Amino acid sequence: MIKILTVIGARPQIIKAAALSRCIKESYSSEIKELIVHTGQHYDQNMSQIFFDELGIPKPNMNLSVGSGNHGVQTAKMIEGLEEILIAEQPDAIVVYGDTNSTLAAGVAASKLHVPIVHIEAGLRSYNKKMPEEVNRIMCDHASTLLFSPTKAGIENLIKEGFKTTNLQPYTMNNPGIFHCGDIMYDNSLHFSKLSDQQSTVLDDNDIEKDKFVLSTIHRNDNTDIPERLSGIFEAILEIIENHNISFVLPLHPRTNKLLKQNTSAELYLNIKSEKRLKIIPPVSFLDMIALEKNAKIIVTDSGGVQKEAFFFKKPCVILRPETEWVELVSCGAAKIVGWHKDKIISAFNDYYTTTNVSFPPLFGDGKAASFMCAKMIETFE
Ligand code: UD1
Ligand code: UDP
Repeated sequence: MIKILTVIGARPQIIKAAALSRCIKESYSSEIKELIVHTGQHYDQNMSQIFFDELGIPKPNMNLSVGSGNHGVQTAKMIEGLEEILIAEQPDAIVVYGDTNSTLAAGVAASKLHVPIVHIEAGLRSYNKKMPEEVNRIMCDHASTLLFSPTKAGIENLIKEGFKTTNLQPYTMNNPGIFHCGDIMYDNSLHFSKLSDQQSTVLDDNDIEKDKFVLSTIHRNDNTDIPERLSGIFEAILEIIENHNISFVLPLHPRTNKLLKQNTSAELYLNIKSEKRLKIIPPVSFLDMIALEKNAKIIVTDSGGVQKEAFFFKKPCVILRPETEWVELVSCGAAKIVGWHKDKIISAFNDYYTTTNVSFPPLFGDGKAASFMCAKMIETFE
């Protein structure tokens, strides 16, 4: 029996953890004991608890309750708390997801104590080191023992940075194993899609008509914190609504909610608030999010996860960023990178509005990524 300690903190990590925990429970419960630590990076009911309630994720064994703060303070508090837990629990490995400050903190705490790191979503790169996430993921990858990449591009990025596909067991921090194993979020989307069909009432609750609305999410600091950029995005949204007489549904991240008034002009803010076809709602549960994604006409987002889910549910996606880690989406034509420029957003939207032949080739595995990871962890740490 191996003991792993999974660290989660931000919304997408909580959702991703559902796939691994479910797989352990269903197929590996006699071989893997999982402890879960929540750093408390996200803490609002609908940024955290809602996912535990809905997705069957085991209650975290520990919660560091670090909350929000400047990156240094937030990350330092997490490192301190995680170090204590690692010393007390002595796990065989620590499991981390993605690229948030929770990922970085876990990577730092574990590597100093020589606890092997398993990095899920390894190898992704935006090649923009001004993004906090880019630094977090590079640092975490380079201290990891098992690196699970959801995409081929991720493996190629790792190879460019000196990782080798030819390394053999025993894997260590100095002899890491890198694996292209599909996307754990694809596992989740397949699993929860049926449940969403049965349970979600989000469309009716918000008076939303199938296929007659655009789903949008905005939370990237690069967009929310710079008035010119946040304004460009909202001006584009308002113009698209007017041009096509189409609704936008925008489950708004608390970060954006807090900055919307401050970082838009009084006139734009008033227009945003008075436009009935722009439905700004609180963040929704994952089952509701899937229902929105499956029934939207087009998705407009700066989220990493939502870009991919758009693809899983065969929806074209306008990416409100100047680059993406999910390069395959763009190269196959299912997504367009536009950044925050009003005219570029409108133009990409119009292209997808009139096109019907967008293709969605299978790029993210077979929905069994979590099982591959469990087997590899057992083989490595037993
Ligand atoms: C973080 C991740 C980002 C990820 C996103 C997922 C980092 C550096 N960034 O960004 O990669 O895409 O999570 O959603 O780790 N807030 C609340 N309630 C909450 C959580 C946050 O009000 O439950 C507000 C606070 O004002 C906080 C702000 O949102 O200061 C930002 O939260 P933070 O966790 O620092 O970063 P995110 O923008 O959420
Ligand atoms: N999500 C959700 N409710 C929302 C918005 C997003 O459940 O209101 C889910 C979404 O389906 C995806 C994940 O949260 O699985 C993406 O998280 P986010 O956009 O916060 O972060 P990113 O993926 O950009 O790191």
